Amino acid sequence: MCGIVGYIGDRDISSVLIVGLERLSYRGYDSAGIATLSESELSCWKKTGKIHELSRFIDKLSIKGQLGIGHTRWATHGPTTEINAHPHVCGNGKKIAIVHNGIIENYASIKSDLQKKGYIFRSQTDSEVIGHLIAYYYKTEDSLLSAIKQCISKLQGTYSVAVISELDPNKIICFRKGSPLIIGLGSNENFVSSDINSIINHTKDVVYLEDSQIAIIEKSTVDILNESGKSVDFKVNHVEWDPNTSEKSGYDHFMLKEIYEQPHVIRKILSKYVSNNTIQFNHIDNSKIGLDSVRRFIIQACGTSWHSGLIGKYYIEKYARILTEVDISSEFRYRQMISHGNDLVLAISQSGETADTLACLREAKSKFFKVLSFVNVKNSSIDRESDGVIYSYSGQEIGVASTKNYLSQLLCMFLFSIYLGQTRGILSDKEYSDMITSVNRLPEYLEKILQNADKIKTISDKYYLSREFLFIGRGYNYPSALEGALKLKEISYIHATGYAAGELKHGPIALIDSKLPVVCVCPQTETYDKMISNIHEVISRKGKTIIIATEGDTRVKEFSDDIIYVPKAPDYLTPMLVSIPMQLLAYYIAINLDCDVDQPRNLAKSVTVE
Ligand code: M6R
Repeated sequence: MCGIVGYIGDRDISSVLIVGLERLSYRGYDSAGIATLSESELSCWKKTGKIHELSRFIDKLSIKGQLGIGHTRWATHGPTTEINAHPHVCGNGKKIAIVHNGIIENYASIKSDLQKKGYIFRSQTDSEVIGHLIAYYYKTEDSLLSAIKQCISKLQGTYSVAVISELDPNKIICFRKGSPLIIGLGSNENFVSSDINSIINHTKDVVYLEDSQIAIIEKSTVDILNESGKSVDFKVNHVEWDPNTSEKSGYDHFMLKEIYEQPHVIRKILSKYVSNNTIQFNHIDNSKIGLDSVRRFIIQACGTSWHSGLIGKYYIEKYARILTEVDISSEFRYRQMISHGNDLVLAISQSGETADTLACLREAKSKFFKVLSFVNVKNSSIDRESDGVIYSYSGQEIGVASTKNYLSQLLCMFLFSIYLGQTRGILSDKEYSDMITSVNRLPEYLEKILQNADKIKTISDKYYLSREFLFIGRGYNYPSALEGALKLKEISYIHATGYAAGELKHGPIALIDSKLPVVCVCPQTETYDKMISNIHEVISRKGKTIIIATEGDTRVKEFSDDIIYVPKAPDYLTPMLVSIPMQLLAYYIAINLDCDVDQPRNLAKSVTVE
């Protein structure tokens, strides 16, 4: 989704901005641009398509400048065109350039007012109103900053914005509401970005701008103003970052690398939360979130994180016996929540910036619910605004399709559920300890599945030309089927649907014919026999069965067209085991179809607009 980068200092401006944009590109975008100020003169370059189109164009020029801003756009208002790309340059005489992430909800009325005043709009975006509003207020205000303050007072929606202008040429001015902005501090140079990844190669000292704050960034100073315009003290965070996470390290794609990282990630999570055969979430203040007296959890999340939440419900209800509801954030946000007291909202998010999940968190807090979040990106908005956080420790996930973080979320949900089960006396000491012993074997099981990748590749070679797939599962593995279908459709553009296998006969069975591949998630769990009956329903209609089964299961072998084995393990580990074959199946099918698996069309890694 859209990304912002900005720089002020002595380095080569175009290369800092272009490299910054490249490092934002994993988020998804369709056009890119930069604007620079050199000797008080503002220039701007924009291109549709990939960033190398822009950098190829810029390479031919000799761009000088002391400061600049750049942007990757993911179209929301207006198609992908050069004119709609950011920066937008406005101004009555002296130029103002703005870049914007988010959505200005009242842009239509602002635009029509400004048009009546004679302002000419070039783009179809909501963002352009910001530049014109600043220009409009500059006519009556005595400074760029005052004009920006007036502009902010008119904006509704979510935004993070960076502005440079010939009107005040030695600074970048930024502001935000509901969309992240980070300021990177250097020595005699400073940076701004919507994503730490784009500046981390230059500095690890960062400031997270808060909602309604304005930052005035000069070469050697940063001033942050609160809503009333007063300078405030700010906290400088030193960020730990492993540079290898931003490299493919010999893999063809980030997605493949991230799939293979999973055993390592699981070991890391276990080392963080399990010691001496005991689960500890020491960083959470149970009394602050009322964990000991919770009687209902409300899980809210989007996409893959929602699938983790669905499996989390099975875990929590089974092992801790606590009522758990699961909602898609964009739905939860607009329904009337009923508080029973003793409720706890669980927000699940890899990025910690998903607009709907963040909005639900805020909505819940405004209604006095406490929020415990499961988040991967430290210091993200959801991390900072939650009452407690369980980190999923999967490291930076660059592929747009969530893989390693999904597994991490499942493990964290599982550990959380048995932690609750043990503290509430639902699980006996032996049950609890046996579960920890088996979960410790998870990395070894995953390694074994990864050794079978060639087999999965061969299966994908057989099916990649199918134009639709069905995924079915039961119990814990009903959400696994939803996730398998999501993974396939998002990176291969093949239509895929996930269903609870028991629902087949209530409609989707009509789809089955000899051309339809049906991925049957059928490890040996307590719903195994029921699942076998559902597979027979598929076979009777001549559907092609790709069965994910438990090693040694000879029964399913008799009627599968293709079979992928996962190691024998307790029921509760099966959603984690079956996820890898489905990730690999989606990956190899997408590769066969020559799709851009790391940056699938239309998708963004972090969905920061509603
Ligand atoms: O960062 P989040 O976990 O909040 O993101 C939620 C979804 O946007 C995300 O899981 C999306 O569905 C992925 N592309 C799935 O692979």
